[in-house]
Amino acid sequence: MAQPCPDAEPTARPGVVALPLLTDRPHPDGHRADRHRPGRLYTCRYRCGDACAAPVPNRSDNEYFGAVLQRAISRRGALRAGAVLTLAVGASGALAACSPAAPAGSTGPAGSGLPAGLDYETVPVGNADAVTLPPGYRSNVVIRWGDPVVAGAPEFDFANQTPEAQAQQFGYNTDFCGVLPLDGDRLVMFNNHEYTIEPLMFAGYDEENPTETQVRIGMAAHGLSVHVVRRDPATGEMTAEADPLNRRYTATSEFLLTGPAAGSALLRTSADPTGTRVLGTLNNCAGGVTPWGTFLSGEENFNQYFANAAAVTDPAALARAERYGLTEEASERKWERVDPRFDVVTEPNESHRFGWIVEVDPLDPAATPVKRTALGRFKHEGATIHLAADGRAVAYMGDDERFDYVYKFVSDAAIQEGNTRAAREANARLLDEGTLYVARFTGNSPAAEITGDGTLPADGAFDGAGEWIRLAAGTESFVPGMSAEEVYVFTRQAADLVGATKMDRPEDVEANPVSGRVYIALTNNTDRGTAGEDGPDEANPRAENAHGHVIELEEDGGDAAAEGFAWRILLVCGDPADPGTYFAGFDKAQVSPITSPDNLAFDGHGNLWISTDSGRALELPGTPAGINDGLYGVSLEGETRGRTALFASMPNGAEACGPVVTDEFVLISPQHPGDLDGASTENPQSTWPDGPGSQPRPSVVNIWRVGEGGRPGRIGM
Ligand code: FEO
Ligand code: CA
Repeated sequence: MAQPCPDAEPTARPGVVALPLLTDRPHPDGHRADRHRPGRLYTCRYRCGDACAAPVPNRSDNEYFGAVLQRAISRRGALRAGAVLTLAVGASGALAACSPAAPAGSTGPAGSGLPAGLDYETVPVGNADAVTLPPGYRSNVVIRWGDPVVAGAPEFDFANQTPEAQAQQFGYNTDFCGVLPLDGDRLVMFNNHEYTIEPLMFAGYDEENPTETQVRIGMAAHGLSVHVVRRDPATGEMTAEADPLNRRYTATSEFLLTGPAAGSALLRTSADPTGTRVLGTLNNCAGGVTPWGTFLSGEENFNQYFANAAAVTDPAALARAERYGLTEEASERKWERVDPRFDVVTEPNESHRFGWIVEVDPLDPAATPVKRTALGRFKHEGATIHLAADGRAVAYMGDDERFDYVYKFVSDAAIQEGNTRAAREANARLLDEGTLYVARFTGNSPAAEITGDGTLPADGAFDGAGEWIRLAAGTESFVPGMSAEEVYVFTRQAADLVGATKMDRPEDVEANPVSGRVYIALTNNTDRGTAGEDGPDEANPRAENAHGHVIELEEDGGDAAAEGFAWRILLVCGDPADPGTYFAGFDKAQVSPITSPDNLAFDGHGNLWISTDSGRALELPGTPAGINDGLYGVSLEGETRGRTALFASMPNGAEACGPVVTDEFVLISPQHPGDLDGASTENPQSTWPDGPGSQPRPSVVNIWRVGEGGRPGRIGM
């Protein structure tokens, strides 16, 4: 059901209106302008510019349609003498590969009958202000907002923050977390700092009149961190440590635009007439670890930082601004008052330089990070790499917006093995040359059987076939009426023209390194099937989809480069007692309630792990205010396929982000702890992680199992 607004406060903010209102299209839901996810005071506004409270940006009339660990192909020497970095596909795959794992579908050693890797006692859903784990598991905070990253960075001082200090400290609201082995017990960690919540960062914050210092602190708290951590094999604890590799990228750091749209007139500004150099990365949500040893990061809700789009008069520019949801008047954080490039009237093309996939080489601090234009521009949740049968790199990507699309990119060249300079340089070009596709899903059941309430069609499955539709390759466009440059810069509009399938907010899209099957988290879409909006189809089968679903996709021939696929829905999320939910046919009496699947990870056994975003939307008899978000393990094989069990529950108000699951440890990043109705710095709704009397601080958490003799044991056995 559409969620009623828990408070009407957001409409009281003058001047912050998402651009699609320019269409003057009345919305049937009178509460819409007030709507945000239940229980949250700030996250919707500060993360996505209240995207769900604005009309759907996709007004296109698209037709409605309804194997195998990739070989650990690249070995790249670390900078440390003698160290070897063993790289598989994906962060969890990389590290899970450090020790042999039982094959998918085999059971754990404890005799419980549960799958290997998932043999833990299910955590009850609840509302504790803590990271709650199964018996026998422990955790420690690795790093939190404000902790020093760069050598010489000052310690965090909540009452005396400065932009200079923040630019050297860990940023706010980590979403993606990736790790790669470095040397010995050390790993290099990469974190996105998706967005800031100024009212929870500064005492006495005036939303209409932020100080320039607050604006600049906010800019410095965005971006990325690269830093080294050490895991103690005797205790299981993981701690951040000083290292020359440690660095921050912020909203003002330099990035290069590369690939086929680099240098385009659409990307040139007064400060950068070359169209190749951008200051900053914004709203970096999820990401990925590449088999060639770099990290990827998705620029997601960049639109909210760009102000005054209501003053755009050119019809084509206005249509583009609407499709991407640029802010009509003043932006939420008012950055345009400090830096005029965030005013679309002053600098019409600056917003075109955000919304890309960013690639960072963790081992080369001197290198300028890049934005890869070949992967298209949209609200990138993230990008994850899987290798095709011939070694070409395939990037799977979601555009996290109601009724937007699933994409993939297939490189022209195959990955080069080895650690030669030539191999490194070749792999650094993989994401610049290739073909960009968007997905169309076609159901195989009669439309009349997709009733919108989750009832399975007569063939017993929400399933069907699909195709990857070419959008562009290099300088060639496959979209009538659009040049290749336009396809890359205005990818949403290109996809509108080719009949892509409108999905329920595609978040992480990631291939299972063991089976090769691809999983898509569709987090929710309460507008599906409401008046004036598109109705349910077999790939998005629930009307007013408040709790989301997960699709399993199998590329034709098991080859990630294929242009066709089969698909089926794995999970229809929600309260298992709701007959409209589905857990791959598994006994719903034995699964955990789950809502709003967001980030995905895989362990070395090939089990799926899901972290959630919006637990408070799931009201249960024992938790009338909703449940806390969490990390869930999901079995994909054998008799337990579909079994979904909560592993870690997040602190109050926090979203579960950035899961990494290995045999030895799990990482999870509770984002925006304390963002509950009534939250303020004077009245914090969480004091995690530092306890009573402290402000909540978004952090990265390390989890391990206490094994024999108190030493760390295998995760999920
Ligand atoms: Fe930043 Fe799609 O969540
Ligand atoms: Ca079917």
